[in-house]
Amino acid sequence: MKLSRRPRRLRRSPAVRELVQEVYLQPSDLIAPLFVRPGDGAPEPIGSMPGVFRLSLPGLVAECRELWALGIRGVALFPVTPAELKNAHASEALNPDCLVLRAVRAVKAAVPELVIFTDIALDPYTTHGHDGLLTADGTDVDNDATVAVLAPMAVLHAQAGADFVAPSDMMDGRVAAIRNALDAAGQTGTGILAYSAKFASAFYGPFRDAVGSAGAAGTRALDKRTYQLNPANRREAIADALLDEQEGADLLMVKPAGPYLDVLAELRAQTRLPLAAYQVSGEYAQLQAAAQAGWLDLRQTRDESLLAIKRAGADLILTYFAKEMAGDLARA
Ligand code: PBG
Repeated sequence: MKLSRRPRRLRRSPAVRELVQEVYLQPSDLIAPLFVRPGDGAPEPIGSMPGVFRLSLPGLVAECRELWALGIRGVALFPVTPAELKNAHASEALNPDCLVLRAVRAVKAAVPELVIFTDIALDPYTTHGHDGLLTADGTDVDNDATVAVLAPMAVLHAQAGADFVAPSDMMDGRVAAIRNALDAAGQTGTGILAYSAKFASAFYGPFRDAVGSAGAAGTRALDKRTYQLNPANRREAIADALLDEQEGADLLMVKPAGPYLDVLAELRAQTRLPLAAYQVSGEYAQLQAAAQAGWLDLRQTRDESLLAIKRAGADLILTYFAKEMAGDLARA
């Protein structure tokens, strides 16, 4: 054939392919989400998340040292709260000695340069598992009452040493309220990673098992659709994310990642802020399950899924594969 363009010339050899590769993953792209549990026992496996553990404080500190040595620069901490500390008011969220704050202080003392992200939402602390306080009739999450708890909660996290607080609750106006509260408390250096486009996703299932926030036993699956985004809505997601930027967020996030790459790519085009994407528990679990069944190659699908998230526009990727991925990158 007489062809003026033969695109395959750019794919002829490994060296040519490397020369023209557009994006690469590196350990500093990755943030490791870590589950913290009370006590000082051994790491506790999570059934639906093979390779992920609930860590006690000593285990958490050891893990953070290893992650730092592998080139991981950020961790996102999620506490597993014992049922007896949960109530309708989420009062444990404002306990200055609660588990996640002790975890922040321990990690900061041991690996001071590691960037700590903490989750700002009430679901670890409410009996019902919602991200906020309920209205008096119990039929919905009360936006403004919830924000009134989130703002002082963020200040406690900043004072404990969190580098970024990460509101994952999807209440309206929480970014501005948190920014104002942080500044009023003199915590001007603490950043906000806003879970800006967080969808009401069924892919969070394994996470809710991991932290025990699925709601009381025997109750219906939690419905968070009055605050998390409708998976059908891209325009609404972009509008909500841009509002977080206006309110003072330093970093914006899209979550889940893989099923929402179109949202990520469009947000990349609409903002100059760095973007994060969260490859959530269900995205991790589906690759692990298929690999266990012998149906997919774990390493290749992991690499491809993460590269796709980066290509779509993520600067930072929260992923349960962070440690394995960084280890493999270091050995490559
Ligand atoms: C709660 C929160 C959730 C996740 C992170 N923070 C669950 C939810 O909204 O119900 C999910 C993360 C994952 O699935 O890996 N604020």
